[in-house]
Amino acid sequence: MDRILAAAPPMGWNSWNTFGEEFDEKVIREMADVMADEGYLDAGYEYLILDDCWAEMDRDQDGRLVPSKKKFPDGLAPVIDYVHGKGLKFGIYSCCGVKTCAGYPASFEHEAVDAATFAEWGVDYLKYDNCYRPVSQTSEMLYRRMALALRSTGKDIVFAACQWGTENVGSWIRSTGAHTYRSSIDIRDNWESIKGIAEVRFDHLGEGGIGCHSDMDMLVCGMNGSSKNPEVNNEGCTQAEYKTHFALWAMLASPLIIGCDLRKADDFTKELLQNKDLIAINQDPEARTCYKLDCESSPGTFALVRPLSGGSYAVGLFNFGEKEMRAPISFWDMGISSAAGQKPSFHDCFMHGDAGTFEDSFCVKLGAHDCSVYIVKPE
Ligand code: GAL
Repeated sequence: MDRILAAAPPMGWNSWNTFGEEFDEKVIREMADVMADEGYLDAGYEYLILDDCWAEMDRDQDGRLVPSKKKFPDGLAPVIDYVHGKGLKFGIYSCCGVKTCAGYPASFEHEAVDAATFAEWGVDYLKYDNCYRPVSQTSEMLYRRMALALRSTGKDIVFAACQWGTENVGSWIRSTGAHTYRSSIDIRDNWESIKGIAEVRFDHLGEGGIGCHSDMDMLVCGMNGSSKNPEVNNEGCTQAEYKTHFALWAMLASPLIIGCDLRKADDFTKELLQNKDLIAINQDPEARTCYKLDCESSPGTFALVRPLSGGSYAVGLFNFGEKEMRAPISFWDMGISSAAGQKPSFHDCFMHGDAGTFEDSFCVKLGAHDCSVYIVKPE
């Protein structure tokens, strides 16, 4: 059987969170260097994605999109070659409406020519937005059209539908052919935004799976309030909040698309984004979803549990509350029976070591907005 494209959630870096409209060829080449040289590519981050604002305002005489002459004086081909030369894949952005969200030309009624152009340029991933859509059109039909146009090129191009979770997208998006779909509104660099997006996802826990993943939007880990993009920037988050952000996205099988300026990432950010245990959970080949266990005796805390291939479970304990709390999990709620002599072992995904074996239940103290994640073997 041929390889399934985007069987696991795609991982990469995208220009929007940090740069908005303000990027150029130099920044993109530098980001490719950091991804390849500082462990990100080895950790699994393979797509380097240009978001909105990469094009000229007008198409050429053949109706094709033209890369911004100011940002890419020699066109996109040498930049894409450079990115590919680093062992990375290249992603680009368009929109199903008549303009992109930032007002650049978009793909409505140009789906075939744009897909063919992207394929010819060597594009491996398309993020496809939902702005300026004619009211007569459903996004379902327009996503079908672009998915078909991309497939017709004969090239493997990941199709990342960016539809913000409207129109009950999770119920129909897989049938369009899209590989990922945004399941909520745009992220901002603050805790309320992270928490809000996670809570929307909790209402749709059963959605997503191999080859079509629920996209909770790009990561803000490491941004620390430094974005140049007014639509994303905020006060930033604490380390505990960024840690919880990454753990949630990993557990909930979201694509992991970094948004910070990797050239400036500090040690904490780098270690977090390259956490092998959390990435392995995110990329687990069975791509199962989580179930959620709320804990009435510790309000604000909850567990997410995700079956992994090979028989173990990922267990995340989270504290969304405003003060330190005990976050417990009863093994009975996972189906583990101590009467049958089962004593699960816990591997700590942040400490990268054994946390011990336990009977009946497990509990950890968590500060406000903090979390712990374990690989649990029900032995
Ligand atoms: C939004 C999208 C963002 C970003 C922006 C660009 O609709 O959700 O992720 O792509 O458009 O204008």
